[in-house]
Amino acid sequence: MEAGREAATIATARKRLHVITWGCQMNVYDSGRMADVLAPLGYEPAAEPDGADMVILNTCHIRDKAAEKVFSELGRLRRLKDATDGRMILAVAGCVAQAEGAEILARAPYVDIVLGPQTYHKLPEMVARAARAGGAVIETDFPAEDKFDYLPEKAAPQGIAAFLTIQEGCDKFCSFCVVPYTRGAEQSRSAATVLAEAKRLVDQGAVEISLLGQNVNAWHGTEGWGLGRLLRALAEIQGLRRLRYTTSHPRDMDDELYAAHRDLPNLMPFLHLPVQSGSDRILQAMNRKHTADEYRAIVGRLRDARPDLALSSDFIVGHPGETEADFEATMQLVRDVRFAQAYSFKYSPRPGTPAAGAPQQVPEAEKDRRLQALQALLREQQAAFNASCVGLTMPVLFTGTGRHPGQIAGRSPYLQPVHVMGPSDLIGTEQTVTITATHPNSLAGTISQERRRA
Ligand code: SAH
Ligand code: SF4
Ligand code: F3S
Repeated sequence: MEAGREAATIATARKRLHVITWGCQMNVYDSGRMADVLAPLGYEPAAEPDGADMVILNTCHIRDKAAEKVFSELGRLRRLKDATDGRMILAVAGCVAQAEGAEILARAPYVDIVLGPQTYHKLPEMVARAARAGGAVIETDFPAEDKFDYLPEKAAPQGIAAFLTIQEGCDKFCSFCVVPYTRGAEQSRSAATVLAEAKRLVDQGAVEISLLGQNVNAWHGTEGWGLGRLLRALAEIQGLRRLRYTTSHPRDMDDELYAAHRDLPNLMPFLHLPVQSGSDRILQAMNRKHTADEYRAIVGRLRDARPDLALSSDFIVGHPGETEADFEATMQLVRDVRFAQAYSFKYSPRPGTPAAGAPQQVPEAEKDRRLQALQALLREQQAAFNASCVGLTMPVLFTGTGRHPGQIAGRSPYLQPVHVMGPSDLIGTEQTVTITATHPNSLAGTISQERRRA
């Protein structure tokens, strides 16, 4: 077993790395960066965990049962590790690792490495330490240095639609949320490093870039820039046709950002802007620091700036203290705003967060009922939005083949999946498509004007 582990430190030997990712898009981005960090040690991506030299579980702690899911996956991986005579290195990364690192090692002593989201630049060193020590390595402190300064320039291509983390962490401390504890304090990368990474992504074939952050519109470069200015600079990059950013907080919308939506045609007219609740009382209990009417006003300004803008949001039902009247206020906000798409969740008490210990927890059956009612309304609005697209002509960025022969698939400006019959050499290009039909989770169309690659 130890000999196998030592082999992991030989830089040139080829090894297989399998990464399992849960949670948000930032975790997806992080998984890619962990693979980049390990590539110089000879690790290559493996589609399956069987027989892999290393498996990383990149975990999410946002809602219930997250830790239990991790332990059941670890049980399965333990058998695969045994089948390699213990040679497989097992690492648990991400937000559950950050929150419950010690418990993971206590309950699953066969885990070799536990690392938080801010320490993955140190993975090569951890792999070497795990090999030397023959015991588990845990790295869940928030280091003084910024991991982005230590990540390799060289990165595997992400493809046509790429993610780029520009901001991480959160100082907002919403009553219900673990993110400020698992990701740490708000931190922005400099405009210069973001622009350099964006250019590299485009050189590697990206046509669309989604900027990521837990509070992406709180981004402020060391240069004193805000997100609006950054988007303007990114929009100048030759070959970059589409820009998005997620997740933004209503409190961090500013004039520069509204102006970016007004002025930049390649900033997509679709925004995920979580509101959580439509009740001022509950918004206050959640520590969101804005009212429902302020949210309506923000939506108004966005639509003034970009009349074709469509919105998505996140909702929580059954936050402690939520009454039927509070829930009805949420339903009213949804009716007023009209969302193209949305995510909604039952409130899930998270250990260590203020709301978890609050009185007036809402009974589970009541949360279920409210969630069903809200989801029915949101589904109706999504169907209406999709139906309103039939007959419209819109640019679609094709990213792959469809399920049926001869079909190619891509995304509309509003992130709807779109299928058309078309040649596969159009993958990677944006085409003008006339939408002809809606299906429950996608649109169908025909290419109305074919643009070949330059
Ligand atoms: N930074 C983003 C959201 C991050 S978490 C924001 O400020 O909006 C993604 C979503 O998960 C949240 O918007 C919220 O709707 C949901 N969520 C977070 N904690 C939750 C909890 N304890 N119970 C239920 N849903 C939760
Ligand atoms: Fe969580 Fe609130 Fe921060 Fe979003 S803003 S990550 S919901 S604490
Ligand atoms: Fe989950 Fe952590 Fe993202 S808790 S949602 S993986 S920031």
